[in-house]
Amino acid sequence: MLRALFVDDDSDFLEGIGEIATRQGFAVSCARSIREARELLENMPPDLVVIDLMLPDGDGIALMREVKDATSADVVIVSGMATVNSAIDALRLGALDYLTKPLDNSRLIAVLTNVLNLRSLKEEVGALRGELRKFGRFGRLVGSSPAMQVVYDMIVRVAPTDATVLITGESGTGKELVAQTVFELSSRRRRPYLPLDFGAIPQNLIESELFGHERGSFTGATQMRRGCFERAAGGTLFLDEITEMPIELQVKLLRVLESSTLVRVGGDEPVPVNVRLIAACNREPRQAIRDGKLREDLFYRLNVFPIELPPLRDRADDALQLAETFLAGFNAQQGTSKTIRRGGAPPDRGESVARQRARAQERTAPQLHHERADDRDERSPGRARDRTGAGRGG
Ligand SMILES: Nc1ncnc2c1ncn2[C@@H]1O[C@H](COP(=O)(O)OP(=O)(O)OP(=O)(O)O)[C@@H](O)[C@H]1O
Ligand SMILES: [Mg+2]
Repeated sequence: MLRALFVDDDSDFLEGIGEIATRQGFAVSCARSIREARELLENMPPDLVVIDLMLPDGDGIALMREVKDATSADVVIVSGMATVNSAIDALRLGALDYLTKPLDNSRLIAVLTNVLNLRSLKEEVGALRGELRKFGRFGRLVGSSPAMQVVYDMIVRVAPTDATVLITGESGTGKELVAQTVFELSSRRRRPYLPLDFGAIPQNLIESELFGHERGSFTGATQMRRGCFERAAGGTLFLDEITEMPIELQVKLLRVLESSTLVRVGGDEPVPVNVRLIAACNREPRQAIRDGKLREDLFYRLNVFPIELPPLRDRADDALQLAETFLAGFNAQQGTSKTIRRGGAPPDRGESVARQRARAQERTAPQLHHERADDRDERSPGRARDRTGAGRGG
């Protein structure tokens, strides 16, 4: 049975929340001050601590820090003022989630269920970490360099929460893979995952793609259509290449995030939104703000939990590992058993992962080029065209 500790000086609140948690299968204890909470924490480390931000003998964030330092418990913050800002601060400092007063029972049940799910997820992540130590990989991500280990640790920390993640890094550094890994290790992993690449959608369709449209809202809109936000309900939305989104739509996106409701194009009814957001950007975000490609207020809203991916040139030891992984995949696909000849020309440390992969395939896959002989004639042999566009913007 999981143990929950509730810290609040409001007795009615404690009674209500305690009853629901007991029904959910938690062993509940309560404290009315930070001092009382410390005593209980010493005697019996809990799995979940729910802390009011304003306590008679101090502030809840400070207690949260103590809990996080001393135990492996998840912390949920309760805010009486319903201010998004203090809640976001708490999430940034590692809170799992937040509740607002007056308490919404169904929301509390959702949070408690999430905590229960998390425990099994944590076991899975533990297993993944073991795998990492053995093989230098983390799920689909390859690389055992210290820089990638930092990235894996950040993924482990943020994945189980509902916090918004902003992934930055040069083209080809694996932002999409990281987004997918965050999703796969989250409690929403059995819910939809919708990636949306703003660089790949015609700009005039982005709004309706995101928010949907009502029937008759524009020529050709013969039916109501739900957008990605609605189709991903309960799940995760990956907004890729966020700086390719028209700036006036960035304002609309911000409004949706702030109000947790959207209005379909041509409609006027607010529709509730329930998605976890992951965004990616292959430009340096602060430079993108200066260039007028990214709204600063949207950036702050997305940058709750930043993950910056290191370029491959800063982790040359990962290059061989990546090449071997790509080659193994290729061998499996083609029924070959090619190996990498060591002692050849050293890898170009400035190359992106995607380009290295393309080159590895090129070197080991002459048959691929026979199939594309007309392609080959256009360029000198031994040079692969970069399919993924690595080098673009990076
Ligand atoms: N650490 C890694 N482990 C395994 N594969 C990787 C890794 N990093 C990148 N790749 C591979 O390299 C290719 C490019 O990665 P991805 O598309 O995720 O890059 P990106 O950062 O989204 O780039 P862009 O900004 O151009 O969209 C993919 O095929 C991906 O599988
Ligand atoms: Mg990408």
